[in-house]
Amino acid sequence: MKTLGIFDSGVGGLTVLREIAARGSAYDRIVYFGDTGRVPYGTRSRETIVRYSRQDVRFLLSRGADEIIVACGTASANALDDLKASFSLPITGVIDVSAEAAAAATKNGKIGVIGTAATIKSGVYPRKLKDLAPSAEVFGQACPLLVPLAEYGFAEPDNEIARLTCAHYLKELKEKGIDTLILGCTHFPLFAELIGEYLGPGVRLVNSGAELARRLSAGGSKTPVPEFYVSDDPAGFCADAAIFLGSDRPVSASLTDIAAYPAD
Ligand code: DGL
Repeated sequence: MKTLGIFDSGVGGLTVLREIAARGSAYDRIVYFGDTGRVPYGTRSRETIVRYSRQDVRFLLSRGADEIIVACGTASANALDDLKASFSLPITGVIDVSAEAAAAATKNGKIGVIGTAATIKSGVYPRKLKDLAPSAEVFGQACPLLVPLAEYGFAEPDNEIARLTCAHYLKELKEKGIDTLILGCTHFPLFAELIGEYLGPGVRLVNSGAELARRLSAGGSKTPVPEFYVSDDPAGFCADAAIFLGSDRPVSASLTDIAAYPAD
């Protein structure tokens, strides 16, 4: 029995789960934790993000996780090294796969990265891309408003507020002439259609969930029904998850007291 644990600050990690569920993997059980009581992570300090992420990992360990995917760009950018050093099970983040896909995709060497303020501030993407594509220019843009918009269900392609917000954040990247854009926050694939429309067909969007799922599907094709846990408002999470995962069965989620898990 092999269990995969996945965590994010909220619904964003569902973009990763959706891709894994669509392709299948070697896991018999998938446990997803959304920290809905403490979202967003992206506006917080590195210290807080590390503390929250350690608690998230401890919770998933308590549910039997053998491996963990940090399905959160912010936690991957700020806490992955700490988590790897603190825990002995395999832990994978979303940064490496995205940086590798972007380096392989770009033709003109102009790569945009959008993420939370904490992800952009960490400088993790320019650092990784310096090794993978030394001549590439990397342009970062924090898009903090997209996280609450996604959490409140304002991500439909016809949502005028979402459209204007995407245009506001992407204007400069478009002017720079990027041909590749890393969706560096797992909430952002929810806006892929709007972003694609604004930037045009010449710009390749890199979705870390899809990249990760491609790799995991090499190991097997099992598609277990995921178990969901959240730290607040299970009903609200379930409503979003059902729409988002396109599930034909009702999604249920259990409430967990994440503060009860040690952060040290
Ligand atoms: N989905 C997350 C990320 O990838 C977190 C967004 C947030 O909590 O601010 O960055």
